[in-house]
Amino acid sequence: MPPAFYTAPEFCEFEKSTLFREQWICLGRVDQIPERGDYFTVDLVGEPLIVVRGQDEQIRILANVCRHRGSLIAEGAGKARNFVCPYHAWSYDIDGHLMRAPLISERPDFDLKNCRLPRFACEIWGGFIYVNLSNEAPPLAPQLEGLSDLLTHYHMDEMVELHGEESVWETNWKCLVENFMEGYHLSSVHQKTLHAITPTRLCRHFPPGEGYFGYFSNFPEDLPQRGAYHSDLTAEERQRSVMFAVPPGHVGSVTGHIVTYLYLQPATADTVKVKRGIAFLDEEITEEERRAAADLFERTMAEDMHQLAALQKGLKAKSAQTAPLAPADYEGNVWDFYQYLATRLAVHA
Ligand code: FES
Ligand SMILES: [Fe+2]
Repeated sequence: MPPAFYTAPEFCEFEKSTLFREQWICLGRVDQIPERGDYFTVDLVGEPLIVVRGQDEQIRILANVCRHRGSLIAEGAGKARNFVCPYHAWSYDIDGHLMRAPLISERPDFDLKNCRLPRFACEIWGGFIYVNLSNEAPPLAPQLEGLSDLLTHYHMDEMVELHGEESVWETNWKCLVENFMEGYHLSSVHQKTLHAITPTRLCRHFPPGEGYFGYFSNFPEDLPQRGAYHSDLTAEERQRSVMFAVPPGHVGSVTGHIVTYLYLQPATADTVKVKRGIAFLDEEITEEERRAAADLFERTMAEDMHQLAALQKGLKAKSAQTAPLAPADYEGNVWDFYQYLATRLAVHA
């Protein structure tokens, strides 16, 4: 693609107001809010949200914007019995209904019962929580059917996040998706970290589906077993990671009993907001194993972050040009991503 695809501020604003407002966007894991009233707040392309486990134990996504005069209501994360706006103390139950509004009973024309925080469509897949801001998108799960089949044996929905970080990377958000999803750079950028485990030459592309794409990063045959495995895993599944994208903003890698993932959204054309995490199937893993997994993930992410900052600088140069992609097994997911973007953005042309 031409470099401006990754550097033009107007195009980035277009992507925020279309893709990130119309598609299913991953916000976190169900295990972050296991009990009634557990919540976290998040901003998605300027839309402040509360993700909360409701009275009926269902996860809901509410606008974090007071119905009175629009203040933000909650911040951070925690356990709530209700949400009280800090401005004039209107209070809402955890399902978003307005419960109390000081002195408002003096206005007989206002009925509390008819007032609640707006809700957004929410779907759970593989233990991940997705929101749809447009409330009009077709359901997510049918779009991920082929991917669900590939991941069944890993039991990703039972995994629990034990490591999470947030940061801003100096690259276009699409460069980060592409980087996570191509194996071409594994043996060069990750020469000291991943090359011995998942070398470029063993990467194998698999066919994309409507709402996903990905590849297998296979381990060399002589590699000793990598950590624990669910007993459902086949010999083949034990010998590879499944790299998957649920575009636009979610990428992950499943290996044995671990999933590592990023949720990302554009900040500017040249910066991306990233949450990264690791969830484990067995919460009782040793501290040593948890630390080893986190350490490998953090080191590889640091290598990518450094490389992507250099990429973004090059893409902004007048001398930046285009060239062919490597064969499908190594860079086919970049092509898959372009196809995804073309179909989702064409409706706005
Ligand atoms: S803005 Fe929330 S109570 Fe006034
Ligand atoms: Fe990488």
